[in-house]
Amino acid sequence: MKKNTVYDCVILSLNKVQNRAGNITIVEGRENVPFDVKRIYYLYDIPGGEDRGGHAHKALHQLVIAASGSFDVLLNDGMNKKVVTLNRPDYGLYIVPGIWRELMEFSSGAICLVLASEVYDEEDYIREYELFKSYKFQ
Ligand code: TYD
Repeated sequence: MKKNTVYDCVILSLNKVQNRAGNITIVEGRENVPFDVKRIYYLYDIPGGEDRGGHAHKALHQLVIAASGSFDVLLNDGMNKKVVTLNRPDYGLYIVPGIWRELMEFSSGAICLVLASEVYDEEDYIREYELFKSYKFQ
């Protein structure tokens, strides 16, 4: 997990059930995301110009979805960087463990929905970039 790279983080195309009254996208753990979902949380009411994230996880797998609006996810494995723009509720960004991420450029009213493989555990976070670098390359 330590050796994971930004290239292990991929956009997953989710399903979309459409009819004249709108759309439904269904996410089922292990069916269309590669982990069991233990926790869901969402970011909203993000003031213009604010960034979120700025940390890595040691073991957590996540699927990040722009449930409404758009935002950018900057992925960094200590060597390579990749910016992914999320702007469709039927696509998700799968973030593997061991990746530094920053979320930015939130549109007005954006909702960032996150499906996570584990319950909240502060011990799983690496919140300082220098510690992240030594974790990756020690
Ligand atoms: P954090 O993950 O640092 O947010 P972001 O990466 O979006 O900036 O979490 C912000 C705060 O919320 C932090 O004090 C921990 C708390 N929190 C929980 O208590 N449970 C959770 O499941 C999450 C995601 C955060």
